[in-house]
Amino acid sequence: MIDKIKEHIALVEAFSTATKAEVEDFRIKYLGSKGLLKEFFAAFKNVNDDQKKEFGQVVNTLKNAAQDKVTSLKEHIDASQEISGVYGDLSRPGAPISLGSRHPISIVKNKITSIFSNIGFNVSEGPEIEDDWHNFTALNLPEYHPARDMQDTFFVQTNPDVLLRTHTSSVQVRYMEDNQPPIRTISPGRVYRNEAISARSHCFFHQVEGLYVDKGVSFADLKQTLEFFTTEMFGKSKIRLRPSYFPFTEPSAEVDVYWGLETETDYKITKGTGWLEIMGCGMVDPNVLKNCGIDPEIYSGFAFGMGIDRIAMLLHQ
Ligand code: DAH
Repeated sequence: MIDKIKEHIALVEAFSTATKAEVEDFRIKYLGSKGLLKEFFAAFKNVNDDQKKEFGQVVNTLKNAAQDKVTSLKEHIDASQEISGVYGDLSRPGAPISLGSRHPISIVKNKITSIFSNIGFNVSEGPEIEDDWHNFTALNLPEYHPARDMQDTFFVQTNPDVLLRTHTSSVQVRYMEDNQPPIRTISPGRVYRNEAISARSHCFFHQVEGLYVDKGVSFADLKQTLEFFTTEMFGKSKIRLRPSYFPFTEPSAEVDVYWGLETETDYKITKGTGWLEIMGCGMVDPNVLKNCGIDPEIYSGFAFGMGIDRIAMLLHQ
């Protein structure tokens, strides 16, 4: 009998399983109300006196071994289920969720949008994959116009009529085709040019286009609008308009804002002049109005376009 119990001790110690059902079977077999230990304890009274001490010891050893085994197997199974369970340990403290932040380009774009919203401009968008008409021809850039070379264009496959827009001015055209004056709209978006990538330029970047068309719109309105914008955007109201050329505006100008020369950075970004070029603008060429179905005898307008990325670099270092 004692040998038989010792065999059970060895069996119990060697026992292992990964399922709760088998642990339960094991428990019932040894520790259940009709289990082996009950049997062994009941046999105690029939054991010879000289063997009672040893018998008692081995039965107790078996009982402790079985109980320890049940406890440790249950703990082990519970622990591994917590790790692999669908939700893991529900009592574990949550991992901190770090909030993201807006990209500097989005911050600048939103600021520009909100400034112009305050003076009655709505926001319009157009496709990034454009056709020749909206990106070039309607904007007074007919085929073979030399100014097309200023904007190295990505064409889609080999079809010269389908391209990635080189500027958001294409949205002007779409907007005028779809809407009659009064028009006040700004069109932010991504544009593409086949340019070498450097710290200052990329093959895709972002612009905001502005368009104002109504009866009696003058260059003075343009200048006033730009002054309002630079004051709100940069806190700087001193601007200058340098005569320039764009096929879609006449007259055309480039806008510089007086940045100042107070710090070393001011010197660097303004190349020592204190002036910073921020956009192109002009009075919408009558031809462009005509191309888009608006009568230039009745209406006039101004337009402007600026790069978001440069401003973002400027403001966010
Ligand atoms: N489309 C021009 C560019 O990408 C920017 C521009 C200049 C837009 C003058 C305008 C404008 O609307 O009037 O360089």
